[in-house]
Amino acid sequence: MSQHRIWWGVLITILWLMAPQVSTVSAAEAVSPPTVLITGSNRGIGLGLTRAYAEAGWHVLATCRNPDGATELAALAKQHPLVEIESLDVTDANGIAALAEKIADRPIDVIINNAGIIGNPRTQTWGNLDIEQYQDVLAVNTIGPLLVAEAFLPHLRRGQQKKILNVSTSEASFGADRGPARIPFYRSSKAALNMLMLNYAKMAAQEGIAVGLANPGPVDTDMMKGVNMPLRSVELAAAELIAIVDKLDVDNSGTFWDYDGSELAW
Ligand SMILES: NC(=O)c1ccc[n+]([C@@H]2O[C@H](COP(=O)([O-])OP(=O)(O)OC[C@H]3O[C@@H](n4cnc5c(N)ncnc54)[C@H](OP(=O)(O)O)[C@@H]3O)[C@@H](O)[C@H]2O)c1
Repeated sequence: MSQHRIWWGVLITILWLMAPQVSTVSAAEAVSPPTVLITGSNRGIGLGLTRAYAEAGWHVLATCRNPDGATELAALAKQHPLVEIESLDVTDANGIAALAEKIADRPIDVIINNAGIIGNPRTQTWGNLDIEQYQDVLAVNTIGPLLVAEAFLPHLRRGQQKKILNVSTSEASFGADRGPARIPFYRSSKAALNMLMLNYAKMAAQEGIAVGLANPGPVDTDMMKGVNMPLRSVELAAAELIAIVDKLDVDNSGTFWDYDGSELAW
């Protein structure tokens, strides 16, 4: 009898010791979920990423050029109070700096440089190469991600996960290039993004910051309107990109991922 009582006592003591620990962890998680900043979150893949992270309970800094016109994003934010809509044009260095200052003390765990443009395919053809348009494409696809990464670096340093994922494209791969010339402004802007962020990854490693590049594959968004090929859903693409963010770390930093998690040729 007395031996039973001793065992019960030991068991109750163990449970009592474990109880506060368990509740502390869940309380901390409930108080501060991780934060992701996403560019171009009002439509397409950016909206899909915002929805998926919101549903996973993350705090989402959902940035877009025109919050007033972002009706789907606003509806999502209504359902998920941790989705915060902020105005951000990735070509506007002053605007980016203003947002960085506005959220000065807040840590960011993950930055996703998603915003991108193809430009007008017709003015990327032989005899019609519109250099001004090329500068616009470079400003959004190549320089924009760097401006965003640099401006929010202090927030990333304060975050736990310290990751930057840049949404690139297989169209930027020299190794996979086949067929005739097509959309050279878009493709070269993303190839430049790849080399820029590969070097950024090498520099950022000293601070434990991981930087990756990912091809979402052909996805059913406005960008692909009129393109005649099988397209995958935004939901699937968002889930695959998040799986890549999850596995991104300093050891594999600088990798160019395909949407299925394999590596793409540069
Ligand atoms: N869809 C595909 O098959 C595919 C394939 C490979 C790679 N990608 C890449 O995936 C990313 C997302 O593309 P998507 O298919 O979702 O395209 P999308 O539906 O056309 O959306 C593009 C997003 O980028 C935003 N954006 C454009 N210029 C901006 C700027 N200056 N500042 C801030 N945001 C800006 C747009 O905002 P506004 O509404 O204000 O224009 C929009 O939210 C892009 O980087 C694209 O290159 C897509």
